[in-house]
Amino acid sequence: MHHFHYVGQKLHCEDVALDAVAGLHGTPTYVYSARTIEDNYRRLISSLAGLDVQLCYAMKANSNLAILRLFSNLGSAFDLVSGGELRRVLAAGGATKRSVFAGVGKTEAEIKLALESGIYGFHVESEPELARINHVAGRLGVKAPVAIRINPDVDAKTHAKITTGKSENKFGIPLKAAAAAYEAAARFPHLAIRGVQMHIGSQLTSAAPFIEAVQKVVPFVEQLKQLYGIAYFSIGGGIGIVYQDALASGDAAWWNAKPEGERPLTPEAYGAALKPLLAPLGLRILLEPGRFMVGNAGVLLSRVEYLKRGQGRNFLVVDAAMNDLVRPAMYDAYHEIVPVVRDTGRPALKADVVGPICESGDCFAKDRTLQTLGEGELVAFMSAGAYGYTMASRYNTRPAAAEVLVSGSRFELVNARETFETMLAGEKIPAFLKS
Ligand code: LLP
Repeated sequence: MHHFHYVGQKLHCEDVALDAVAGLHGTPTYVYSARTIEDNYRRLISSLAGLDVQLCYAMKANSNLAILRLFSNLGSAFDLVSGGELRRVLAAGGATKRSVFAGVGKTEAEIKLALESGIYGFHVESEPELARINHVAGRLGVKAPVAIRINPDVDAKTHAKITTGKSENKFGIPLKAAAAAYEAAARFPHLAIRGVQMHIGSQLTSAAPFIEAVQKVVPFVEQLKQLYGIAYFSIGGGIGIVYQDALASGDAAWWNAKPEGERPLTPEAYGAALKPLLAPLGLRILLEPGRFMVGNAGVLLSRVEYLKRGQGRNFLVVDAAMNDLVRPAMYDAYHEIVPVVRDTGRPALKADVVGPICESGDCFAKDRTLQTLGEGELVAFMSAGAYGYTMASRYNTRPAAAEVLVSGSRFELVNARETFETMLAGEKIPAFLKS
């Protein structure tokens, strides 16, 4: 559910008309709904009520400082994957002491920064990484809190590029080898074994793979509790969102009308399935959702540049491109595209919706049926709050988009559109080319 809906003919985010946002801040612009994020946070936490739960929002999904502060105000900590993300948490006033640091390639400098910030746990992905963390902690004269990422070898049945829990993926240590990895960790003098972690993949739309993975690792987690007195079990992120019927799914009625078997995963169903498996462990449970928290809480606003009517094919050329939202080009992802000002009297248009970048891959949708739109009119790409802005690039020397946060009837620019000057700030022409 989310707070994007039409009021009359105009698409609103909460109480704010999106044409007004585009008028003030231009396009392409990401717009986020604070209330949607708050609702998602509360629903997920309530679904596991009774357990000792810490939500560590996977900030790779959307790491704008305002979004991080919103999470922090709600009581969330963070799942971070780089020194840069750690510095964002600090800049947003977030709690590094409850946050966790994941990723297969942590550098010495990143490990040092995390230790100095009092990170809650390193999510370790390999034995050489254990040795490196031990080494850096020793130099600082501290003990580093670690949890090993277990790869449960479960098929998450999602897109190959976002599956992480299969044995052929680069992530984690196979369950079979995990006991030996913990023994190795226990031998390092500057490591403190704090927990265990797993994450099987992203955009999962049923509870079954989560259940399978948790059931598979629970006996091992129990052993770890006995042997090392671990404090937590992080079950990762991965809860999927609705892309296809994104706008309609804002409404509770859309969910209620779905028969049980066809309903996409809800936080309530997720919690109900996992709580009985997790409760007997008596451990703190960490959740690392990214997409579920912010995906349907954001849209990308874009303006139509041209309607190019071609031979047997129409192209709606918009001012957003694959550099702003790469998911369709990278994962063949579907994003619903809706007019910001609806006019049901107009004929339908079947078109490819494309950006201005010089690549055929710069295509958001093929053969999409939309209301006929013309130059200067606005569209919104739905479900763009997760892995949208954070995956943007500057291809074709296109500046990063602006970002706006809405709360009720208030809205504020939370990231100004990048300028040509800042884009070029680090570049220079060397002396040997000047003569
Ligand atoms: N925890 C770990 C260890 C992860 O690797 C990830 C995501 C998450 C949590 C958060 O997963 P989520 O709840 O968002 O599914 N760029 C891709 C998604 C990549 C996900 C990578 N890892 C996309 O746009 O679909």
